[in-house]
Amino acid sequence: MITQLAYLGIASPRSEEWRDYSTRLLGAVIAEDGPDGAVRVKVDDKGYRIAIHPSENDEFRYAGWACHNETELREYVAHLRAQGLDVHEGTEEELKERQVAELYWTQDPWGNRHEFVWGQYAHPNSFFPGRPMRGRFVTGDLGLGHIVMIVPNLEEADAFYAEKLGFKLSDRVKSDIFNLRFYHCNGRHHSLAVAEIPGMTGINHLMLEVESFDDLGTAVDLFAEDADREILLSLGRHTNDLMTSIYVQTPSSMQIEYGHGGIHVDDLTWVAGTHDLPSIWGHHRSQAYLDGPPGIFRMLDVPEDGR
Ligand SMILES: [Fe+2]
Repeated sequence: MITQLAYLGIASPRSEEWRDYSTRLLGAVIAEDGPDGAVRVKVDDKGYRIAIHPSENDEFRYAGWACHNETELREYVAHLRAQGLDVHEGTEEELKERQVAELYWTQDPWGNRHEFVWGQYAHPNSFFPGRPMRGRFVTGDLGLGHIVMIVPNLEEADAFYAEKLGFKLSDRVKSDIFNLRFYHCNGRHHSLAVAEIPGMTGINHLMLEVESFDDLGTAVDLFAEDADREILLSLGRHTNDLMTSIYVQTPSSMQIEYGHGGIHVDDLTWVAGTHDLPSIWGHHRSQAYLDGPPGIFRMLDVPEDGR
């Protein structure tokens, strides 16, 4: 089974702007560039966790999901293939670029690439925050954080992500406006969520969690004062994972949720629930949120029945 979100890759014409953004505002640091000039962002002792490849357009490129070891990875890939998924083996170049020991990949029904790996390179005691921080990012066994994918149809997404990839349902948020499912693959309440927007696919946001409430507070101040990057959703607390967070602009269309204090789930006791609101309080939408894109997305051909 996959046990954590290991890394994320996007592409953007403004990849260079991530250097200053990641360090000064997020508190991350910049690792060595990728072979194509990708800006690589480090948030812990892993070689890097986020890659922003230079490109003409904003694109979701890949999400990397880790297994504990080669035996579990190969069993997982065999399980995926037995269900009819077309799973490809990574090339030597891909292994080197992703800094992993072994890699396989497949695509979701809308062409979004998911990679399955083990042996992500790490360098103990190599992470020091890019700006003053009281604590560190919450990663380790819980992985990089979580991603929220945009999908055109939630039931088809569930058939792929839960039934085939094996993500476990944490809960749902469903109302006239929202329709999302949240999934876990470790103790973090969710490492993956899917949000239904008909006719579209892509990535809405990446969540990074910090250990200290003060480090979230510092981010609120830094983004409030920053001339270029706006707070999209004000400080608020989610109903389901109880994360206190802000959502902020990045140099690309993908948003970042910068949070603290998310709950953990235990499969022995966890009961999946459903919520009719995403937040208990806060998360008020700014004008920039209302005017901006819902993330990095592609429009899909919509069949005549409108689904
Ligand atoms: Fe989130």
